[in-house]
Amino acid sequence: MDTAATLNLAIRNTYAKIEKVGEGTYASVFLAKNVKTGQKVAIKKIKVVSNANGMDMTAIREVKFLAELKHCNVIQMLDVFSSGSANPSLNLVLEFLDTNLEALIKDRDLIFTSADIKSWMAMLCRGLEYCHRHWCLHRDLKPNNLLISPEGELKIADFGLARECGDPGARMTHQVITRWYRPPELLLGARSYSTAVDMWSVGCIFAELMLRTPYLPGESDADQLTTIFKALGTPSEKDWPQHKSLPDSVQFEQYPRQPLGYLFSAASPEALDFLAKCLLYDPLKRLGANEALHHPYMKTGPAPTPFKLLPRHPTKANNKEERGDGEQSSWHPLLSDSTEKDKARKNAEAGGKKRKLEESEIEERKRIARKLAFET
Ligand SMILES: Nc1ncnc2c1ncn2[C@@H]1O[C@H](COP(=O)(O)OP(=O)(O)O)[C@@H](O)[C@H]1O
Ligand SMILES: [Mg+2]
Repeated sequence: MDTAATLNLAIRNTYAKIEKVGEGTYASVFLAKNVKTGQKVAIKKIKVVSNANGMDMTAIREVKFLAELKHCNVIQMLDVFSSGSANPSLNLVLEFLDTNLEALIKDRDLIFTSADIKSWMAMLCRGLEYCHRHWCLHRDLKPNNLLISPEGELKIADFGLARECGDPGARMTHQVITRWYRPPELLLGARSYSTAVDMWSVGCIFAELMLRTPYLPGESDADQLTTIFKALGTPSEKDWPQHKSLPDSVQFEQYPRQPLGYLFSAASPEALDFLAKCLLYDPLKRLGANEALHHPYMKTGPAPTPFKLLPRHPTKANNKEERGDGEQSSWHPLLSDSTEKDKARKNAEAGGKKRKLEESEIEERKRIARKLAFET
């Protein structure tokens, strides 16, 4: 056995798989343990499909970016090894993260205050600003790919579609980003695009955190643009001067622009401005990740909730062993903008029971559902 193979085997033998915890588009994710230290890790096993040029680029790209990126809001890769000879796989050893933002959004026991939402948004923008500063486009931002650590820290994960973005003239595929989070320039077939594509997804995620349901859920690629235009109005020449020259541009049906405050009635003026700037049609005018960090939304009250105090699934929050720090979560009234919501959240967390929705909350959800279905 040569040195590389011996080293690979040594790394592989350091980890013992426990159970499967996730299945993605092209990978299986397992909970595993470092047999020497007892540390819980995740192993993302990616089947390597060979093509004419050698190895599949998806797996290689993910390893390349994760090896380079080191930031508290980006998932950390601890090791990498290969397995299987007939059906080779690349195994990425990652820090183990409890849950993801999609699961938190769907957990109806949890109440999000605007301070909580700001905290997730700030962590997302910090992680993304770091990626963009290091010439990395993520190209698949969505709640399911934003993992949450046992301490509550948000980490950008799943760099399977990422690529470098240094060269402004480079031609890239437009078949990236999950449909509901995909920006209009990609839907119109743009082949050269930039960091603004990720910021559109950030806007969709922000909207989803406020609505607790996806904001622009197109039913097909063709329907996605219509869904966007119905929500934000069909773009004019002035809104987005270059859009008519994009490959798939056609004559679109005209929908009027509705003020965002109509749907996001509880959002502050700063939050609405932040959302509007992430969802600008013209990618050149859209908010950048660095600008997002300095936007008034991030600087005006309420202050973001410290990540250790963010809402989390009740069973895990109350399990000392799971949290690993032997410390119970405590809510600080000054860190939240709503005492009533906090009370309800505390009750939900303490009991671990399903919280019954108040009549007014049911009405509010119905109102949002009606508006999202674009009914009058
Ligand atoms: N480090 C991790 N810790 C815990 N679960 C993880 C981790 N990485 C991924 N998962 C789980 O596996 C799922 C798929 O992982 P992901 O990296 O998104 O793969 P894919 O590229 O196939 O979508 C995630 O949505 C998540 O539920
Ligand atoms: Mg994924």
